[in-house]
Amino acid sequence: MSVYDVVPVSVSDYRRRARWRLPRFLFDYIDGGANDETTMARNISDFACYQLRQRVLRDVSQVDTATTLLGHAAALPIALAPVGMAGMMARRGEVQAARAAQRAGIPFSASTVGICPVEEIQAALRAPFWFQLYMLRDRDFVLQMLARAETAGCDTLVFTVDLPVAGMRLRDFRNGMLGGGIKGKLSQVAQLLTSPGWVWDVGIKGKPHSFGNLSDKVADPEDLQSYKAFVDSQFDPAVTWQDIRWLRDHWQGKLLLKGLMEVDDARASVDSGADGVVVSNHGGRQLDGIASSISKLPAIAEAVGEQIEVYLDGGVRSGIDVVKALALGAHGVMLGRPWVWAMAARGEQGVFDMLDVFRREIATAMALVGVNRVDQLNAELIESGRGFN
Ligand SMILES: Cc1cc2nc3c(=O)[nH]c(=O)nc-3n(C[C@H](O)[C@H](O)[C@H](O)COP(=O)(O)O)c2cc1C
Repeated sequence: MSVYDVVPVSVSDYRRRARWRLPRFLFDYIDGGANDETTMARNISDFACYQLRQRVLRDVSQVDTATTLLGHAAALPIALAPVGMAGMMARRGEVQAARAAQRAGIPFSASTVGICPVEEIQAALRAPFWFQLYMLRDRDFVLQMLARAETAGCDTLVFTVDLPVAGMRLRDFRNGMLGGGIKGKLSQVAQLLTSPGWVWDVGIKGKPHSFGNLSDKVADPEDLQSYKAFVDSQFDPAVTWQDIRWLRDHWQGKLLLKGLMEVDDARASVDSGADGVVVSNHGGRQLDGIASSISKLPAIAEAVGEQIEVYLDGGVRSGIDVVKALALGAHGVMLGRPWVWAMAARGEQGVFDMLDVFRREIATAMALVGVNRVDQLNAELIESGRGFN
């Protein structure tokens, strides 16, 4: 970031500001991926393998970025992806981001492992929001969480299927966020000393820092290691498609399965009663060395896009990326790190302004490929002979 920069005008501008504001272990928690982070990097760089076609003289005076996402009107083909511990990046962060999403006219997804409980988010909103769940061993607790989410006005369940075990995010160990004993704690204290703004605004005034949706279940709600122990003991690696059918029987709202990368798994999602899938590799935080999500999108959209809504996340960093994803068959996209960087940098207003950057970029790209409506974005607008298929 240069002293001459006046306003952030891109996702990378927000990322730089987040890095400046957050203690390193928190910045790394958002920024990092699994192992060597090759999949995380490919999620971004593979967007460049697809090129849009410029079309001219097509009367683009009525460009409209609005669409519907799982039955709800949305101002943009974007939803905010669930991000655990977002409330550590800004004071009561999930509430700030949910408000920004509401103002921008798009859905917000609350993570199972968010800091603010669903009730706190509901109290700040007028519209329904989405709730993300991982399968826990204690199925009674899962049913309780579903009931809580429904009561809090969540009408869409984002059920994440790519985390039977947690990926190996090496930065979290290196910087002392996980494990590291007394040396890790000392390192964290040293990192906090360089972020006095965060310490005052979030560290002191943003409490409680518990995982709001799980705090009844955790021995010491103020201790991150207690949550890690709970999550490690509760995340269920034995989950199968049968559990998805069980879930479908117990959830009346829309069901979006997040974390599919293969056509067969997308087809099985249709068979198990899902209303949509998110083509996602968890932002490169799970299995390093797999393909980018954008490279997997066209085949999945082709196979199931007529039956259910296909979303994409991973590496979406601009409105141009959104337009490419829609042209390649996505119904909409989810943003993960970008909203968290914007929130860490400038809170609710940062997220709102960043979404406005996306809105302008999408509208401009739509005009320059010659369409007025998002449903006119299709594969004819992508250069042939490029990409992966
Ligand atoms: C810091 C962080 C925490 C995340 N926590 C969750 C989570 O709690 N539940 C979930 O389903 N996905 C989680 N994800 C994955 C995101 O929902 C999303 O799939 C991913 O961030 C998309 O990639 P992008 O960050 O490149 O946009 C997390 C991602 C990040 C970066």
